[in-house]
Amino acid sequence: MTVLARSCRGMLSTLVALLPLGLVQVGLADEHRITGEGIGAFVVEDGKVDPDTYDGYIVYTRSCMACHGPDGLGSSFAPNLIRAVERRGWENFAGTIASGREIQPGQVMPSFADDPYVMGNIPKIFSYLRARGEGGLGRGRPKIIESMQEPDAEQGEQDEDKDEAAEEASAE
Ligand code: HEC
Repeated sequence: MTVLARSCRGMLSTLVALLPLGLVQVGLADEHRITGEGIGAFVVEDGKVDPDTYDGYIVYTRSCMACHGPDGLGSSFAPNLIRAVERRGWENFAGTIASGREIQPGQVMPSFADDPYVMGNIPKIFSYLRARGEGGLGRGRPKIIESMQEPDAEQGEQDEDKDEAAEEASAE
């Protein structure tokens, strides 16, 4: 019991240390784990991510990087999306992708309304960009957290986890 109490105190001081950074520390078993809840939920653990956030990186790299630069950082042509996600939030983000935008003449953000690959993956792109910002995820192609890898067979347990995640998301 004493050992447990002591390690709990350790966790508490870790939590307190992270508070000024605005980071949410949830995974009590692992102090290197940072998670974001709600739409665009993500997990970052020692530079590795959950499968949805990984997919988000792939979609971003295929469909957005050409204009918005590698790793969400922005380019001379299109803005940094890590900051855009923090500033504007989910509805504005999803709306911009669906409708497109041209605030500065000649700098066109195209509408992706006719692109089912992008439209079906907007929450995952959102997860990736949140992980880059709030989650402190570094540049480049992340690896998937081993315990969260989705095997093709035996999905039963994983589906239960997904249902739980969906319930948590809709509770917000
Ligand atoms: C053809 C180039 C191009 C592509 C491809 C592109 N964008 Fe953009 N995007 C732009 C430009 C240019 C702007 C700035 C538009 C403006 O401010 O008028 C922009 C703006 C945005 C904004 C608003 C940023 C802010 O600061 O508010 C979001 C969000 C966004 N893009 C998301 C995406 C996502 C996600 C993808 C990939 C699915 C993507 N864009 C693909 C060119 C592009």
